[in-house]
Amino acid sequence: MQYVRWDGALELGIPEIDAQHKKLVDLINELYTAVQEKHTAEALQRILQGLSDYAKVHFATEERYFREFGYPEARIHEQQHQDFVSKVADFQEKFEKGETRLPMEMMAFLRQWLVKHIQRSDSRYVPLFEENGLASAKKAEASVF
Ligand SMILES: [Fe+2]
Ligand SMILES: [Fe+2]
Repeated sequence: MQYVRWDGALELGIPEIDAQHKKLVDLINELYTAVQEKHTAEALQRILQGLSDYAKVHFATEERYFREFGYPEARIHEQQHQDFVSKVADFQEKFEKGETRLPMEMMAFLRQWLVKHIQRSDSRYVPLFEENGLASAKKAEASVF
């Protein structure tokens, strides 16, 4: 089910980053489907753990480029990543305690955070990443002419 739709509004034109964001969207949609289909708490926890693990991989990728390219807004951006990781950990903890109203609140948070973070924060590093050769071939070519 498409709880978060992957479309042009989320694409940054940096292939490696777009592929990772798309995978995060897929994982959120997978979790949503599992919530809708009333899968067991264990099944939901497994997907949530996978989402959390992959988010960390993705954040590490961005942060590695921040260091490599000297991104001036790295510190505040990394703080946002950490806030997300701890918020997801909070959800996991509540989940383990058997809080039942959790899933929709969690889904709304995940969608809102990811969409807003990509559009308002990730979009800010795009020019720097492009300057350092990470743009898609099509986009790089377009900027030459
Ligand atoms: Fe980010
Ligand atoms: Fe990102």
